[in-house]
Amino acid sequence: MSTGGMRRVCVIGASGKLGQYLVRHALDRGHEVVGVCRERSVGKLAGLADRITVVPGDTNDPAVIKRAVAGCEGVLTVLAPWGVRQYSSGTAQAVLDHAEPGARLVFSCGWHVARDGADQYTWRFRATVRLVTWLARLVRAVEIDDQVEAGRRIFASDRRWTLVRGSDLEEGESQGLPVWRRHVGDPALASNLTRRVDFALFMVAALTDDTLVQEAPAIVGRLAPSALAHATAA
Ligand SMILES: NC(=O)c1ccc[n+]([C@@H]2O[C@H](COP(=O)([O-])OP(=O)(O)OC[C@H]3O[C@@H](n4cnc5c(N)ncnc54)[C@H](OP(=O)(O)O)[C@@H]3O)[C@@H](O)[C@H]2O)c1
Repeated sequence: MSTGGMRRVCVIGASGKLGQYLVRHALDRGHEVVGVCRERSVGKLAGLADRITVVPGDTNDPAVIKRAVAGCEGVLTVLAPWGVRQYSSGTAQAVLDHAEPGARLVFSCGWHVARDGADQYTWRFRATVRLVTWLARLVRAVEIDDQVEAGRRIFASDRRWTLVRGSDLEEGESQGLPVWRRHVGDPALASNLTRRVDFALFMVAALTDDTLVQEAPAIVGRLAPSALAHATAA
């Protein structure tokens, strides 16, 4: 694979499941990789330690992000809504504030982050998001709506961003680059399932795909039944 002329790439949230796939795909493409993860999670990257530079720290810490993204032409950010401390929006803001001018910025989130009024959600999807948001906030575990705030800040930015909106995820062998549509509700997305390894593949490929600049693609696995059924639809 090729770097598309992009040498150094930063992966923010490198130690998580998605993050580790991002690191591996980026290395496979020949990028030099800097990874940011919480201090306590550095050990999860032990198998990659001799191939990447690790910057330990919270991903919403502007000083950590400033150091990590210096000299990076691409930044891949896992937006994780953990805790009730605006972790996702703080992470997005730190990247938007400190990435190099002109850098390609690719973020992850879920389908629930709507860009405009054209996404169409089923009542079941809406009800689930509402319930999970409320329950998670009640136990102070996860702030789903802070990922929505992160999305709002990204959409308002004039940076070269892409916000990749993931369907439900599963583990498994790669099926290749997922299918994407501009809006949730498109019949091609109905299966609502993507392999995590391919979510990461899409994000890494987006680094050098200018057609995705300032887009918020909603993705689904390329072998998902709905994707196959609508393979030829634009
Ligand atoms: N899971 C799904 O079904 C699903 C569906 C659609 C979209 N997505 C999106 O996919 C991306 C990855 O999600 P994932 O579910 O696959 O998880 P993941 O890749 O395992 O990532 C979780 C991230 O959160 C960090 N984290 C965990 N606990 C934390 C805490 N208490 N404080 C701060 N950071 C913490 C992890 O870092 P450590 O290694 O330090 O723990 C890791 O970087 C997210 O953007 C998510 O919105 C997920």
